[in-house]
Amino acid sequence: MLCQRRTQVVLALCLLLLLWQSFRAPPDGPGGPFRLVLRARCPGTNSSAWFSARYDPAVEPLLLGRAPELPAEVVQWWLRLQGPSRGVQLQPIIQQLFSVFPAPTGSAWDPSGCRTCAVVGNSGQLQGSGHGPRIDAHDWVLRMNRAKVTGFELDVGRRTTHHFMYPESAVNLAPGTHLVLVPFKPLGLQWVASAFSTGELTRTYMRVKRFVRADRDKVLILSPAFLKYIHDSWTQRHGRYPSTGFTALLFALHTCQRVSVFGFGADSEGNWHHYWEKNRWPGAFRRTRVHDAEVEFSLIERLAAEGRILFYK
Ligand code: C5P
Repeated sequence: MLCQRRTQVVLALCLLLLLWQSFRAPPDGPGGPFRLVLRARCPGTNSSAWFSARYDPAVEPLLLGRAPELPAEVVQWWLRLQGPSRGVQLQPIIQQLFSVFPAPTGSAWDPSGCRTCAVVGNSGQLQGSGHGPRIDAHDWVLRMNRAKVTGFELDVGRRTTHHFMYPESAVNLAPGTHLVLVPFKPLGLQWVASAFSTGELTRTYMRVKRFVRADRDKVLILSPAFLKYIHDSWTQRHGRYPSTGFTALLFALHTCQRVSVFGFGADSEGNWHHYWEKNRWPGAFRRTRVHDAEVEFSLIERLAAEGRILFYK
């Protein structure tokens, strides 16, 4: 009898421990898988005509290594993004890529739970915001380019699960973080393969990192088709192509059930400044019209107004 009671108490304790783990642990940390099973479903949001006209859940954000996976019109648009790239053979480049990295399985996007994601842009608006703990409370924390954490934890948090970059903005990552390559050109694909193997590529239009310290099995490559979808359906061909930050936001919209957005927006003079520095020429980049900062910002505001994202200013 006593033995039976003891077993019941132990079982109850185990169950409590499991429940506690499931609500406490980040998904990539210990106890994460339990969390996926037990997490509550998100309440749905009704689609407006505006949102439905832009959002296409069928568009795959990642390159999956299946040949041939890019339609001709995507390849044509993409090859012209950063100047002419005559004679480029894309298929061998993609093949080489997936000889260096494992092809993704797609299982990361489990749609049945309620994954919360914080997309953290690099805007100077984050200075003194105190958003750090709120950012860290999300399942996924997405950062980009030369984003810094050390010394800025109170305002920007300390966790990163996904770091979006391209060759010219590459940084080393902590173990366990996904490196998400945003390929604005074929050389971007060649660079990431080289940076995790031979290190032969050291220049694009400028010197780039020869090697990147990051987990090879965590590397994800965005699909050029996803970039074209954002350019056509969301920014509607304003600017030449979407910014890294807006691309990360759209990635979150496609893979997370709840999206919070931090660190987007220019300063009071319209300059694209950073929270970790006094960049002297923050407006210069905007004048090139590569990205349309105003259009991207107005889309973020509209997504917030429609309840699709939480936008922290
Ligand atoms: O400057 P950088 O491109 O590294 O910033 C990352 C992203 O953060 C940008 O692509 C942009 O979407 C966003 N950003 C912003 N306002 C700023 C600075 C950056 O919206 N002042």
